[in-house]
Amino acid sequence: MNISIIGTGYVGLVSGVCLAYKGHRVICVDKIQSIVDSINKGIAPIYEAHLERMLIDVVNNNNLKATTDLEHAVMNTQISIIAVGTPFIGDSIDLKYVEDAAYDIGTILKNKKDYHVVCVKSTVIPTTTDTLVLKTLQQSSGKTLGDFGLVMNPEFLKEGEAVEDFLNPDRIVIGAMDEKSFEMLKNVYKDYFDAPILKVNPRTAEMIKYTSNSLLATLVSFSNEIAAISEEVGNIDALKVLEGVSLDRRITPNPEGKIIKPDITKYLKPGRGFGGSCFPKDVKSLIAFSEKQGYTPQILKSVIEVNESQTRRMIIALKSEISGIKDKTIAILGLAFKANTDDVRESPSIKLIGELLKEGGKLICYDPIAIENAKKELANNINIKFVDRYEKALERADAAIIMTDWDVILNIAFDEFKKLMKNPTIVDGCRIFDITKAESHGIRYVGIGYRE
Ligand code: UDX
Repeated sequence: MNISIIGTGYVGLVSGVCLAYKGHRVICVDKIQSIVDSINKGIAPIYEAHLERMLIDVVNNNNLKATTDLEHAVMNTQISIIAVGTPFIGDSIDLKYVEDAAYDIGTILKNKKDYHVVCVKSTVIPTTTDTLVLKTLQQSSGKTLGDFGLVMNPEFLKEGEAVEDFLNPDRIVIGAMDEKSFEMLKNVYKDYFDAPILKVNPRTAEMIKYTSNSLLATLVSFSNEIAAISEEVGNIDALKVLEGVSLDRRITPNPEGKIIKPDITKYLKPGRGFGGSCFPKDVKSLIAFSEKQGYTPQILKSVIEVNESQTRRMIIALKSEISGIKDKTIAILGLAFKANTDDVRESPSIKLIGELLKEGGKLICYDPIAIENAKKELANNINIKFVDRYEKALERADAAIIMTDWDVILNIAFDEFKKLMKNPTIVDGCRIFDITKAESHGIRYVGIGYRE
C-alpha cells in the first residue's frame, strides 16, 4: 500500500522504515528540511538499534522517501499516519501538533477524489480521535466521515527495541470509526505481521495504550513500595520477595517444570524508579484527563508519588552510609533513563544529580552514550564533571550510585570498586549487584529494597 507518515520522530520514523521494509511504499513528511534531507540520504536523525541499516535499504530500493510537501504525500498515498509529538505541558498533554496535522491533511482531502484513511498513531488521551481529530478533519476538508476514513492505531514500541517491537508486534490494536477504514488499516498489517488484531473503537484504542503503560508503571511503583516497607523492617530483601511472588504460576507459567519467565516480571523489581518519554507523561496525562472527567484516580496518583520519592529515599540511604553529602565525591554510574539508549528525558539519574548538587556533593558522572544529552539537561556547575570511563568516576570516590543497568556497569568487578574508591560504598539503584559478594569484598552495599 502507499502510506504517508506525518512526523519523523522516533515513532514516525521507526513505523515508516518498518512498513517500507515489509514492502509498503512510504512517504515520510517532516517540516524540517534538514531532517528530510538526512532521511533521503539514509542517515537516521535519531538513534535506534537497526534503524539506519534498514533505512539505507528502503531508501535504496525506493520504498521510502521523505519530503516537506504534505500535499504531495497525501495525494499519492491511501493512508496518512499522524505520528507527531504530544508533549506534556503544565498538567496535561498538548494536542496542538495532532490538531495541526489533522487540519493540514483535511485541507488537502478537500481536493482529493479518492477515499483516504487518516490514522492517529501519536499517543493521545481517550476521545481525541473521535472528537478533536474528526471535527478538525471535517472542518478543514468540508467532507464528512465516510468520505474519508479515520482510525486510531497505537504503538507499543520500547526505546532501544523499537524496530524489533514493530516487526514482531504482540498485538495490533485498530480503533476504527467505521468498517471501511478498519479494513484499510487491517490490510497494512494482515499479510505482513504475525500478531492478533484487536478491533475496537478509537477511544478504546487510545485507552489501551494508556492502560498498558500505566500498568507497567504501577508494577514498578508497587515493587518500590514493597521495597520501602522491606527497608523499614530491615533484613528483608525485596528483590527476593518479588522473585518469590513472580514464581506464582499465574505470573510465571511452568508447563512440565519448564519455567517461562514473562517480560512483565522485569517490572516487578525494586529500583530507582521509572523515567523516559512515556511512563511519567502517560500516567500523568491519564490522571489529568480522569480528574477532568470527575474521577480521582487514586492508584495512578500514588504510582507517581512513589516514583517521585525514590530519589529522596536513595539520598537518605546514601547520607546514612557516608554521613552527609556536602563535599563528598560521588560517582554517578549511568545517566540514561534505562540501558541501551542515550535518552535522559525524565531520567531518575538527572533528578538525583540535581538533588545531590543542592546538598553540596561533588559529582563525577559516567554513562557510555548519554553524556551529551545529560549536559543539555544539567546547568553548568563546578561540582559536576562528566567522564568517559567508569574508572575515572570511581577514582577516590566516597560512594558510587548505580542509576542505569548498562552491561558495562554491571560487569565492573568488585575488586575495581575496592581498588579505585576512597570509601568503597555502593548504592545500587538498579539492584544489579549481589549483596553477599559485595560484602565479602569489603564493600558497603545499600540496595533499593534492602537494608541490613
Ligand atoms: C514504554 C513501554 O514499554 C512501551 O510499550 C511503550 O509504547 C513506550 O513506553 P520505554 O519508555 O522505552 O517503553 O521503556 P521500558 O523499557 O518499558 O521502561 C520504562 C521505565 O521503567 C524505564 O525507566 C525503566 O528503567 C523502568 N523500569 C523498567 C524500572 O524502573 N524497573 C523495571 O523493573 C523495569
